[in-house]
Amino acid sequence: MMLTRTGALDNAALSASFAGQGAFLYLDDFLAPEVTAQLAHTAHALLGEVNRNYLPGHKQGGSVSRHTIDQFAPFIAELYRSPGLIAWLEKLSGDTLQLSPADDPHAYALYYYTRAGDHIGWHYDTSYYDGRRYTVLLGVIDQSSCRLDYELHTRDPDRPDEPGSVQIPPGGLVFFDGDKLRHRITPAAANEMRVSLTFEYVTHPTMRPWRRFISNMKDAIAYFGFRQVFRQFGKRRGVHT
Ligand SMILES: [Fe+2]
Repeated sequence: MMLTRTGALDNAALSASFAGQGAFLYLDDFLAPEVTAQLAHTAHALLGEVNRNYLPGHKQGGSVSRHTIDQFAPFIAELYRSPGLIAWLEKLSGDTLQLSPADDPHAYALYYYTRAGDHIGWHYDTSYYDGRRYTVLLGVIDQSSCRLDYELHTRDPDRPDEPGSVQIPPGGLVFFDGDKLRHRITPAAANEMRVSLTFEYVTHPTMRPWRRFISNMKDAIAYFGFRQVFRQFGKRRGVHT
């Protein structure tokens, strides 16, 4: 089964578009409809596993980490590892991509915007790895007014900043270099629901210890909770996580 529409796309034009937009691409119709439907079903089924977090002035929302996905929805991990998808992303980016290490809770994760005010403020998907980190954002459910607002070229002194905004429908894709795209998700209103799935790929899956510490603390506080992020440590110590 074709999981995505990569085979039907004009890859040369898309690569040029990705480069021209400073390592950013948006496609409103990317996943095969069966895959989108399965993801939406899974997103509903995992509502009880969502870890809620709130950082005043920066973000509010829910997330389900790769560890929980491995337990309950391994087909998402298969999609993340799909050689066809990775080869296509490599063509677009011109980089050789590797999977995020097994202890990275962001490698593949679901993000939930289900309560009024759920959002994430302006940020970059900073790479704490030694090389680049690319984000793939896939629309799963969108019964919301949330938008992905972004600014291209902010790190390129030779090009003026270029703002943009998209509302990503289920099955849509955004692909970008996390250190280059300044972006945010605008706040959800009451009785809205939005779920997105993100995949992270890296060019060098190594991380210096101090950056590892910063990255872990950020993930524990801002995303997945201490039990998810420090589960390896807990296991080694014989603690139930
Ligand atoms: Fe982000």
